[in-house]
Amino acid sequence: MGNMPEHSALILPSSPLTKRSGDVDHFYRPLSDLIYFSGFEESHSCLIILSKPSAKTHLFVQEKDPAKELWTGPIYGPERAEEIFQVDNCYPSSDFSDTALKILKNNIHSLYYNFGVNPYWDTQIEKIINDLKTKKKTITLCDSTPLTVPPRMQKNEEEIKTIKKATAISSKAHIEVMKYCRAGLNERELHGRFLFEIMKRGAHAEAYPGIFASGPNACILHYTSNNRIMQEGELLLVDAGAEYNYYASDITRTFPVNGKFSKIQKDLYTKLLEVQKQTIQMLKPGLSFKTIQDSLVELLSHLMKEVNILSGSVKNIIQEKKYKKYFPHTFGHSLGLDVHDPVFSETKNIELKENTIITVEPGLYLPPTDTSLKPELRGLGFRIEDDILITKTGAEVLSHAVPKEAEELENI
Ligand code: GLY
Ligand code: MN
Ligand code: MN
Repeated sequence: MGNMPEHSALILPSSPLTKRSGDVDHFYRPLSDLIYFSGFEESHSCLIILSKPSAKTHLFVQEKDPAKELWTGPIYGPERAEEIFQVDNCYPSSDFSDTALKILKNNIHSLYYNFGVNPYWDTQIEKIINDLKTKKKTITLCDSTPLTVPPRMQKNEEEIKTIKKATAISSKAHIEVMKYCRAGLNERELHGRFLFEIMKRGAHAEAYPGIFASGPNACILHYTSNNRIMQEGELLLVDAGAEYNYYASDITRTFPVNGKFSKIQKDLYTKLLEVQKQTIQMLKPGLSFKTIQDSLVELLSHLMKEVNILSGSVKNIIQEKKYKKYFPHTFGHSLGLDVHDPVFSETKNIELKENTIITVEPGLYLPPTDTSLKPELRGLGFRIEDDILITKTGAEVLSHAVPKEAEELENI
């Protein structure tokens, strides 16, 4: 509220349920901004924050409905929600267009709302803006990002504790998956094992669809079909993370299906691991995302030249962006309520600050169809990803409990 100009309103909705098929809805997960600013978990809700001089919070929630509650469980309703979630006023979501119009028509000059997230709420907000226009009230529409993102970028003590818990749960599950892995299993059996292991430890869901990519599937960056029988001699890339109390973890390990790296697999893996460790070592407050990316690209370009994946000078590999063929993504991302947590800076130059949490996830993807590669390299894919808390002077690897040295992986 204090960061908003006077006479403005910030609108933070969460989605209504959406159909999966027939009578079944998609699994519901509140939008992160609503969770962050209100803690309210039910679907079909919307928070309005008014700056001075009103300085009020309004939350729209579903009404109690005994018939519905019989099928899907308790609903807070406006009265209970007002009490528990400490907002000034709660109203039924079904009255949103009339009540929100009343709230916004007096003294509100700027509306902070981001269109394009949910069509249901877009229609509601559009209607209110049009109604205000017919009443000759002009209201300026503003991007809510500068208000909502900066506080989410630096985690408080409670958030750090929660992400540490999410990461600890995922770490144990990764180790169990490694132990269970063998040739002849379908990738999705390991996915099932991962879900079991995280839920056993208190996570309610994954933070994103788990990637269990064996052999050439590891070259598909966000492979989620997880439906292939794993073969002797192949690698398995597991990119999976638990969500705990709505906070994400995001860990990747690449290891041999049968417990033994081949010589070429081990050589590339060990070199990539060295790159990842060097990147983690440089992290500290003040470092920009661009500096991390540039440094990682340089290290990976050296690696690609050294193992004859690319030829020419390292300078040329970087300048001509040739490395992108085998490393098309960035060093990582911010981690929080969302696995790809939003970042924002007035200057566009995002810098690490104390209590930022990021991932570092270098990869090397050698497509099976790339005939410019030696045949034994084709179809190999590697990624090593850890979750990292930026401290006052450096960095703490939150996912340290999952081994990543080649020998440790073989032993497990
Ligand atoms: N699991 C998605 C990512 O690593 O960004
Ligand atoms: Mn990631
Ligand atoms: Mn990941």
